Amino acid sequence: MTKITAAITAVGGYVPQFVMTNKMLEDLVDTNDEWITTRTGIKERRVLKKEEGEGTSYLAIKAAQDLMTKKGLDPLEIDLVIVATATPDSMVASTAAFVASEIGAVNAFAYDLLAACSSFLFGMSTVAGHIETGRYKKVLLIGADKMSSIIDYTDRTTCIIFGDGAGAVLFEPNNEGLGLQDEYLRADGSGRQFLGMEGGGSIMPATIESVTNKKHFIFQEGKTVFKFAVSNMADVAAKIMTRNELSEKDVDWLVPHQANKRIIDATAKRMGVDDSKVLMNIQRYGNTTSGTLPLLLFDYEKQLKKGDNLVFAAFGGGFTWGSIYLKWAYN
Ligand code: UT7
Repeated sequence: MTKITAAITAVGGYVPQFVMTNKMLEDLVDTNDEWITTRTGIKERRVLKKEEGEGTSYLAIKAAQDLMTKKGLDPLEIDLVIVATATPDSMVASTAAFVASEIGAVNAFAYDLLAACSSFLFGMSTVAGHIETGRYKKVLLIGADKMSSIIDYTDRTTCIIFGDGAGAVLFEPNNEGLGLQDEYLRADGSGRQFLGMEGGGSIMPATIESVTNKKHFIFQEGKTVFKFAVSNMADVAAKIMTRNELSEKDVDWLVPHQANKRIIDATAKRMGVDDSKVLMNIQRYGNTTSGTLPLLLFDYEKQLKKGDNLVFAAFGGGFTWGSIYLKWAYN
């Protein structure tokens, strides 16, 4: 019997209309375009304004609808919808359930997957598990975040980095050996003191004091996170290559989480992969957290060819990080 693998068979994406440039941030905090560009590679990011739509689900629905239109996918055929996110519409009620209903995937079950910037990467592993067993045939994985909902636009250490956006991929069974090949996923809870959001969870529910003290905004100790991100993302990507006997020539594309261009460059260098093989859109969207990886696939879809070797790598809050090796399944 041929082994069933989990392949990506369609991609969709969506970013909000409002473009927030580095210049605009100069009016909000003590920063400048030159600093942001050289330290991060970011020129602009998107922000979802109330006039356009509300919540992470808005972005996720748009990305899913884009995919369904392009693929001609009947939503009734979808078995499962996973929304990978760090900013669900609200706590408790599943954002994915709402998204599934809104796109007409009424035969699907749905749940959210929260692992900070690694949410989409870990979601790929989860979806592959569901497909490889043969239990489900069409699984929609959406990476979506409205980071602007947890950003303090007076804090220059975070507001310059993050943006809003969403990407969606469809996973289906494959019997040609394409799709997800290998994964190396890690987590280290000691990292939560360096990147996270203190308020709003079960340790610090919302109080007047927590709001006044800005505990419902994301914080990060940038330098420390940067150090961990550089070494860990490069380590896992190199490990995936060694484990699968992939030389730098065998890697067609590096698909890295878009947190900082310097982290991406360091990962590519460690892998020995040429810049021309590195997917990058951080200059336009900033760090969209769970949206980065699928938005790269969305932007570069036309250049990806059947059989191409893609190495994904991500690092995020928790800490959480990892790498996935996937063979692209269509032209
Ligand atoms: O996706 C989730 C994971 N997150 C990440 O991977 C983010 C990792 N961290 C980073 O990307 C970088 O650490 C940052 C972009 C956040 C900061 O860059 P950095 O090169 O680590 O800067 P720094 O924090 O060491 O600060 C250098 C200087 C400081 O001034 P002094 O002390 O040298 O005078 C900061 O006060 O730059 C100053 N600075 C700024 N200046 C202008 C910090 N933020 C800004 C700013 N604009 N926005």
